Amino acid sequence: MNPTRIEFIDAYDWTDILRASLAEGHNMIARLLADFRGGVNRFDVPGEVLYAHLSGQVVVAVAGLNREFEPSYPRAARIRRLFVLPEYRGLGLACSLVGELSRCAVLHFDTLTVNVGKLDARGFYERLGFEAVQHPGITHVKELAPEHVVHTGTESGTSQSLV
Ligand SMILES: CC(C)(COP(=O)(O)OP(=O)(O)OC[C@H]1O[C@@H](n2cnc3c(N)ncnc32)[C@H](O)[C@@H]1OP(=O)(O)O)[C@@H](O)C(=O)NCCC(=O)NCCS
Repeated sequence: MNPTRIEFIDAYDWTDILRASLAEGHNMIARLLADFRGGVNRFDVPGEVLYAHLSGQVVVAVAGLNREFEPSYPRAARIRRLFVLPEYRGLGLACSLVGELSRCAVLHFDTLTVNVGKLDARGFYERLGFEAVQHPGITHVKELAPEHVVHTGTESGTSQSLV
């Protein structure tokens, strides 16, 4: 399953992923939808992207890339709104999304950042080569380098991964 670039969120069904995220106490999907619909964040600044895994039109996993505003990381992009439906976890979907974001990011940025906060995802990012940092609002970073792109398949374009 290859991730799909999302440019118009209301072309897709977010019902399940919104319900599941709220049930786990996460507000990232609610924020994603509200900010997109309100024009606050549409992942449309140059270099920014939003990707999802779909089952038909149903969103089963999502992650986005925004420019990092923290001055300590002037050429960085931040991974945001990563969530996978519980029944789709352990299948490599989050890994695939972060790989796609990384492949896009390397064209515009030199570092990826993320704020895992209190979420139980530190091990996930560390598994993908992110390093823990002591920085307000940023828990993990990963330097991007084009030579780190790994060709993992034969499909066009989307088969590259940086993870
Ligand atoms: C964290 C999350 C995104 C992982 O999604 P996923 O699709 O199950 O992850 P993948 O299947 O791509 O896992 C890739 C690797 O990371 C590992 N991994 C996944 N979640 C992990 C976790 N919480 N801790 C440690 N390792 C983890 C997997 O075992 C796998 O390793 P492997 O390749 O050696 O088997 C998902 O559990 C989720 O949506 N959690 C709730 C929201 C959240 O925490 N989001 C992160 C916001 S910063």
